[in-house]
Amino acid sequence: MELLFLVLLSLHILKTEAVVEHHWCYQSQKCAQPHCEAPEEWYLIDISCKGNKQSPINIVTKNVIYDKNLKPLNFEGYDVKGSSKWNIENNGHTVKVELSTSPKIGGGGLGRKYKATEFHLHWGVPGVQRYLPGSEHSIDGEKEAMELHIVHIREDVSNITEAKETADGVAVLAFFVKVEEENKNYATLINELENIKYKGQTTQMDPLPLSSLLPPEEDLGRYYRYEGSLTTPDCYEGVTWTIFEKPIELSISQISQFSTLHFDGRNSTHMIENFRPFQLLNERKVYWSSASMLLPAAKVLMLVLVLTYILSSLSQ
Ligand SMILES: *[C@@H]1O[C@H](CO)[C@@H](O)[C@H](O)[C@H]1NC(C)=O
Ligand SMILES: *[C@@H]1O[C@H](CO)[C@@H](O)[C@H](O)[C@H]1NC(C)=O
Ligand SMILES: [Zn+2]
Repeated sequence: MELLFLVLLSLHILKTEAVVEHHWCYQSQKCAQPHCEAPEEWYLIDISCKGNKQSPINIVTKNVIYDKNLKPLNFEGYDVKGSSKWNIENNGHTVKVELSTSPKIGGGGLGRKYKATEFHLHWGVPGVQRYLPGSEHSIDGEKEAMELHIVHIREDVSNITEAKETADGVAVLAFFVKVEEENKNYATLINELENIKYKGQTTQMDPLPLSSLLPPEEDLGRYYRYEGSLTTPDCYEGVTWTIFEKPIELSISQISQFSTLHFDGRNSTHMIENFRPFQLLNERKVYWSSASMLLPAAKVLMLVLVLTYILSSLSQ
């Protein structure tokens, strides 16, 4: 009897240890933490990571399908500066900002309204001379420096856990970050990074209108839409992705501030390359909001001129 108890106890300890070992990481952490589960092994943590509707993907523009229902999204409360602070956390994988208000999105082919709960970023290895781009999605194989994800859940659920249990529960807006001039609207967020260098550290910042971190709304009419997953374990499938064509612009020195963070404690690896590799598209389709790709500005102008000419000659 005692022996059986001991066997059970040791099995329990082994099992607990095995669970502790199952800690997911990015490929860039594998050197320092050989036992962590890199992206190719995430399915050991959650089998969903091996599913056939995973994210991110490479978008091949010649295969996208124009969908006239994909009108510009409606942004509600995106231009409002809330009154309570935003919580910022180094969660060991990214910098995550919890929103204190719930700006909403609707329209744009979404079946319902969604509220924003948090945003976070993915990046590569910045450098002054050369840098490795770290966006998760790519367009025709081209990645950008970073990618911003604004996570939204159905307006009628209270948190992400509940959203995952509800059909059409999660919608993510993705914005590429391109190397350009300095973007002063990001100064507050970037200045806080030195206070959350290590995993588990949190700080607060004055809230901003979410729209101040994004390209102007009039540039957000062109986007891609597909059904995918969260890009970190549990790799939950059932995420409606919207990937905007117009990127956010940050300077290389602003981008490089993100990699001063660490994945873990004081002597741990710098937080770099925190992106998941591309996943297979499989049977899925990627939709495109705008026929204007087929009609660039010059062609539209030409068309208008020709029509004007025809109309004026008819009226004579
Ligand atoms: C999510 O919301 C549900 C329902 O209100 C609640 O029971 C649950 O504790 C919440 N979970 C988290 C992680 O906050
Ligand atoms: C970090 O490294 C330094 C020098 O190698 C060492 O003295 C210190 O104890 C380490 N700190 C931690 C938290 O491991
Ligand atoms: Zn993300």
